Amino acid sequence: MEQVEKVIDEKIQGKPLLTEKKEGNSKKLFIESYGCQMNMNDSEIVASILSEEGFNTTNNMEEADLVLVNTCSIREKAETTVRNRLKKYNAVKKVNPKMKVGVLGCMAERLKAKFLEEEKIVDLVVGPDAYRDLPNLVEEVEAGRDAVNVILSKEETYADVSPVRLNSNGVSAFVSITRGCDNMCTFCVVPFTRGRERSRDPKSIIEEIRSMHDKNFKEITLLGQNVDSYLWYGGGLKKDFKKASEMAQATAVDFAQLLDMCATEFPKMRFRFSTSNPQDMTLDVIHVMAKHKNICKYIHLPIQSGSNAMLKAMNRLHTREEYLELVENIYKIIPEMNLSQDMIAGFCGETEQDHKDTLDLMEKVKYSFGFMFAYSERPGTLAAKKMEDDIPLETKKRRLQEIINLQQEHSLFRTREQVGKIQEVLIEGTSKKNENEWKGRNTQNTVVVFPKEHYKMGEFVNVKIEDCTSTTLKGTAVGYSENN
Ligand code: SAH
Ligand code: F3S
Repeated sequence: MEQVEKVIDEKIQGKPLLTEKKEGNSKKLFIESYGCQMNMNDSEIVASILSEEGFNTTNNMEEADLVLVNTCSIREKAETTVRNRLKKYNAVKKVNPKMKVGVLGCMAERLKAKFLEEEKIVDLVVGPDAYRDLPNLVEEVEAGRDAVNVILSKEETYADVSPVRLNSNGVSAFVSITRGCDNMCTFCVVPFTRGRERSRDPKSIIEEIRSMHDKNFKEITLLGQNVDSYLWYGGGLKKDFKKASEMAQATAVDFAQLLDMCATEFPKMRFRFSTSNPQDMTLDVIHVMAKHKNICKYIHLPIQSGSNAMLKAMNRLHTREEYLELVENIYKIIPEMNLSQDMIAGFCGETEQDHKDTLDLMEKVKYSFGFMFAYSERPGTLAAKKMEDDIPLETKKRRLQEIINLQQEHSLFRTREQVGKIQEVLIEGTSKKNENEWKGRNTQNTVVVFPKEHYKMGEFVNVKIEDCTSTTLKGTAVGYSENN
């Protein structure tokens, strides 16, 4: 397994996003996204807002009136990628001089107006909470002035903006339920770029899912930086919950309740969620997962390190022992659960023993999958201000490789467990390797490929698993599942 960037679908990184054309729109928008799934979803919100302003999407930059890039700041490499894209836009501008360029997302938030000085090509800078202001900002830009809005909000959840689905397979979609993050992990730039945590009105979540359901979507992933921390008490920041009225506190909706509501309301749809922070995950959520067949038995449960010293330095608010106890309880309640991880190799002060603790913890949990990274210092974070990035790059890379190698063994262990079983798979598209085979995922989020026969996109099929690699299961369909 190669080192993977933290994305749910790597193929769509930077791919221009296309949506249905709205009649009467004459301006052309080219929009591409880097980084996490939240960014992909935000770009769908942006496309929705701009489609009301006369813009249809295009995948041809040379004819675009407006080029937008939704950016990521999580590691230095993510920012370098975007800087390189700006060079490309500059070249295209020579053949398409009318084109305006805007930077959205986390880099916009981090660099603010500095972007306009550093990159002459940029006309527009918009942070993640300011997309509603895009109509005004675009007007400014069209009048020949630069425009910036990077104000972070206490309330914005874009609850009433119905995202237009970009490059959708028509089967699975993402629905944002929280924005921002309050956890302040010392290595992480997200709390600075995406602001404080707030939750979205459950009614608007259910309505959005209903509209997806009516369009025949079959799987919804509830999205947030920290979904388990979801808490709706009428709007506002999570940290202000204690100041809310008694009534508002008593009638608040937490994540377990939200999940239960979604799964009950739409029994024929599958539900997933991402990301879970261990310190906020409660067993209530696991019990709700156990109760509903249509909630997938898979949790992305990042820990970052298996060493208590590192967890403390990272301000992860739990110990290795507490995490292992949580995992044990999860496996007890749902034995077929699969877990995945995020790990950071070579954080400030990491000793060889700390690293061994990480490998040892992985042995104990046996994750089915992982996103693994070498520590990359981010300006403005507590780690950048207070700690020394003292692990040599060579050491970071070697430790990272050891983590990746071990993960690959565990991935194979987990896929082998599935061989011989009959599993429900939702068909999401044609297999990359063989056009006569479908590709989908089982409840544990593992990719399954099997001969197409008479089955169709979006159907739930029972598949007998016959073979596997560390990342893919191979099988044969044995009939429709009862969910179909
Ligand atoms: N809660 C978020 C985490 C976002 S960051 C979520 O929705 O997934 C995704 C992952 O990137 C983190 O879990 C961490 O493993 C990694 N990461 C974050 N900051 C990093 C840094 N400075 N260097 C290396 N990896 C980092
Ligand atoms: Fe970042 Fe930690 Fe939040 S990794 S997104 S600060 S949970």
